Amino acid sequence: MLKLKACLALELPRINAALRDAADRLPAPVRPLALHVFNAGGKRLRPFLTVLVARMLGYAGKDIYPLSVTLEMLHAATLIHDDVLDNAGTRRGAPAVHTVYGSTMSILAGDAMLSTANGLVAEHGDLRLVTAFSDAISRTAAGEILEIAAMRNLAQDAGAYHEIILGKTAWLIRSACLMGALKAGATEERIAAAAAYGENLGLAFQMVDDALDVAPAEIIGKPSGGDIREGKLTPPVRMYRESLSGQELAAFDAAFTAGTFTDEDAARIGARIRALGFDIKTREMAGACLDTARAALHILPDGTEKRHLLRMTDYVQQREK
Ligand code: IPE
Ligand code: IPE
Ligand code: MG
Ligand code: MG
Repeated sequence: MLKLKACLALELPRINAALRDAADRLPAPVRPLALHVFNAGGKRLRPFLTVLVARMLGYAGKDIYPLSVTLEMLHAATLIHDDVLDNAGTRRGAPAVHTVYGSTMSILAGDAMLSTANGLVAEHGDLRLVTAFSDAISRTAAGEILEIAAMRNLAQDAGAYHEIILGKTAWLIRSACLMGALKAGATEERIAAAAAYGENLGLAFQMVDDALDVAPAEIIGKPSGGDIREGKLTPPVRMYRESLSGQELAAFDAAFTAGTFTDEDAARIGARIRALGFDIKTREMAGACLDTARAALHILPDGTEKRHLLRMTDYVQQREK
């Protein structure tokens, strides 16, 4: 894990420099909102994946950095939009953009970031990259729409959850890996393997995010218990509900479907979820996707980058923020 962190630390200055250049290309009124998110921190997971995959597949060009940060710009735009949709007041340990600039500005800024990033991808002159990127935008939006449609609804099966997280989170992480492979000019078989790795890493990443939703806000840098309050039937919330019976179950269902959980309710339920170990069980669920992600790497070239991508699966399962 330490080696993975050291590798990211080495790449981070190049990724952040490319991100600053990308921010310069935004329309002037949008820039302060984008910089608010970029400067608040973030793990830079998606650009890091693009760089690692391209390097693993033999690509040495420096233009991998400007390509990689288009995915961070997409990610940041979805975070801005997501915090409006989720009524979330904090992000990356800072006030969410919409609490500072208002929802209208935030939605428009997110849109401008998406289209600017799309233009930056187009500068690479490869239609397959452009298609992969626009696909990532629409799949992410579709996942968020599915999630909104499912909010406060208790009649959801595991398949619905899979569709939601595949769209809202996994597709972008898949695209980060896919675009690294495309830029490297890899064979179709290797491109498909990189995409399968990213998709499964991304599914696991969101499951662990759902486990982390009940962690303290100071640690995750965003509101704690938001999924409970917003009526999202994530795995830990579902496990908790299934542990209830009688009056308790009836009261939970009534508040969940009416959307009347208070901050205190969310804190109390979050503490129960942790005490019952449902967050840990959710991480174990993510383990199955991580096995699939690791298996997808088999046919890809051995070396330092592949070792980092393997370690990334452990990191995703164990991450604390
Ligand atoms: C947050 O993503 C949104 C999800 C897809 C769960 P990250 O956990 O990668 O957020 P940052 O970029 O590190 O802030
Ligand atoms: C993450 O969903 C997906 C996107 C941001 C598109 P969440 O709503 O769970 O993400 P957080 O918890 O706000 O980061
Ligand atoms: Mg959210
Ligand atoms: Mg979340």
